[in-house]
Parts: sequence; C-alpha cells; structure tokens
Amino acid sequence: MTGKATASAAANIAFIKYWGIRDEERILPVNPSISMTLSACQSRCTVELLAQSAESEVLLLDQDGGLVPAPERFAAGVFAQVRRLSERIGESAPMRVAAHNNFPTGAGLASSAAGFSALTVATLGAFGHDADPTELSVMARMSGSGSAARSVFGGYVEWPAGPHDSAGHAVQLAPPEYWALCNVIAIVDPSPKSVSSREGHRAAPSSPYYERRQEELPGRLEIVRKAIAARDLELLGPVIEKDAVELHLVAMSSEPPIFYWQAGTLAVLEAARRLRAAGTSVYCTIDAGPNVHLICAPRDENKVATELESLEHVLYVIRDRVGGAPTLEAEHLF
Ligand code: PMV
Repeated sequence: MTGKATASAAANIAFIKYWGIRDEERILPVNPSISMTLSACQSRCTVELLAQSAESEVLLLDQDGGLVPAPERFAAGVFAQVRRLSERIGESAPMRVAAHNNFPTGAGLASSAAGFSALTVATLGAFGHDADPTELSVMARMSGSGSAARSVFGGYVEWPAGPHDSAGHAVQLAPPEYWALCNVIAIVDPSPKSVSSREGHRAAPSSPYYERRQEELPGRLEIVRKAIAARDLELLGPVIEKDAVELHLVAMSSEPPIFYWQAGTLAVLEAARRLRAAGTSVYCTIDAGPNVHLICAPRDENKVATELESLEHVLYVIRDRVGGAPTLEAEHLF
C-alpha cells in the first residue's frame, strides 16, 4: 500500500461547552454542546502508508520548517487513534504521520479537536476510504477529544448528548456562510495548560455548581439554537459568556480545583465589558485555558482587536472567523 494524503482541519470554539464525560470508553458527553468551527486556527496532517516491514513514526514540523520526531505522549495519542481507525475500516499499515498546528497547542484553543479531525481525515484519505461527515464525526470523537466530533463540520455545529446513538456524532446547525461571525482571540499565555480537559471532565461532577449548570443547560442550548437561526448576536452573546464563566466556576470549585484563568484572562473580560459599555457588541467565551475568545460582527473586528492589542497582558491577537469543514490538500508536509 502506498497511499498518501494531507488534510487540514480547523479548531472550533464552543458556545455551550462540553464539560463532564458520561462514558469514558466511548467518549460520550453528559451534556450537549454547540460550537462554531473556525478558519484561521488550522491543523495540517500528512499520512503516508509504508511497506509492511517499515516502522511507523510521528513527526512534527518545527519552527524552521524541518520535521522532528514528536514527543512520546503525542505520538502515543496519534498511534492510538490510528489503531481505532484501522479497526473500524478493517485496514492497517505502518505509516509516517506528520502534523503541524499554525496556532498554540494545548492552550485552550481546541488544538486537539483540530488535530484529531485532520488526522482522521488524512488517515482515511491515505487508505482511500470514503466516509460521510457523520461517520467522520464518530471516528474523530473516538480520539478521546470529544470536541473533535464537531470540527469535522463547518459552520455552526451541535453535538447532542443522551442515551441514543445521536450522541455519537455531531450535526451541522448552519453552514459558515449563514452567519459571518468573528472570533478575535486574545492570547495571554500560549503555553500548554498543566491540567488536561480530560481531568477537568472527570473532576466536574465533584463541584457543588455542576448540577446547577446542568439544570440551566437545556434553556441555554435553546437560546443558542434560536440565536444562530436568527443571526442574533445580542441574544447569543450574554448566554455564551455566562456559560463560559460557569464552566470555569465548576472547574475552580471541583475536587481537585482547576484554575485555567490568569490575570490576563480577567483583564480581557474587563476590556470586553468596557467595549460593550461604549456600544460595541462583543461577548467572551473561554475554553479550558487562559486565553479569551471575543465573538463579534465583522464590522467590529478591528475595533475589538485594537483594544485587545493595547492591553499589557495580551501577547498577541488571532483574528479568526467562522469557517468550513476539513479539506484534503494537494500539498503534503513531506
Ligand atoms: O474535547 P475535549 O475533551 O478536549 O474537551 C473540550 C472541552 C472544552 O473545550 C472546554 C469545551 C468544548 O465543548 O469544546
């Protein structure tokens, strides 16, 4: 077998967050989540099938554009996902895998969602296996990064929960061209977080605020679905900001407590409140990390980015927007 394929997949930002895992084996969430797939924060992955006698390897693109062996833990995650994919499609081969993120890895920017989506699409591509988006979503979810189930769709995406098979894959609520939202990301610390999302999912039920958030979620999900359908940022914004703050309330009060926020996180939240007080419609959300995502309309993107760039704690800003599904690319990483 000599197949080779390269895929690009984008990160996604959750409007209503997945926080709490119901089934660790199958990676099924306690609650439904809704996200927006991005376009600027991209993972690229090349997979080449090798001769049966060859040894598999995982490489990362370094800063100078060279390929270097991936750290052991990273490679183990890749091999585990490749094994699951091979079992599912009934084909296997040694392979060379190379990966690259054009944005900080492990810093609360959904790099694992983007990375595992790209790996899944590239692996199936290398084997010449066709899969529809629903099947891709199931396979990306199995990586262990549940939110990867959402990154295989573009636009606005819901990953349901519940006892039925529907929890196994995400569905698209609206395509990217339906609503041109921006996500201006304030990077206050690009370094990898010290507590993984998995640990956060596990610890979540020990928080006294966990059940309370679960009770609120059906109402919040309904508002977010309505806001997307009506393209209504004033309806969407307050609810996503509240849900993000409460995810962190749960994290900070779980056993053991998890603090993703830093001083810069609070400074950015304060800047968003200042912008709103001055009439700009902008709302924050924060994944499992210290960096803050500011959701606004394209007409306000410059104003929001300029304000963030003026803050002492903000190292730099990524201007992202709603984007499409993963793509197969002609240009390979090696
Ligand atoms: O998919 P995971 O296991 O990396 O967890 C994602 C957790 C959040 O990013 C905080 C929320 C979400 O729904 O993306």
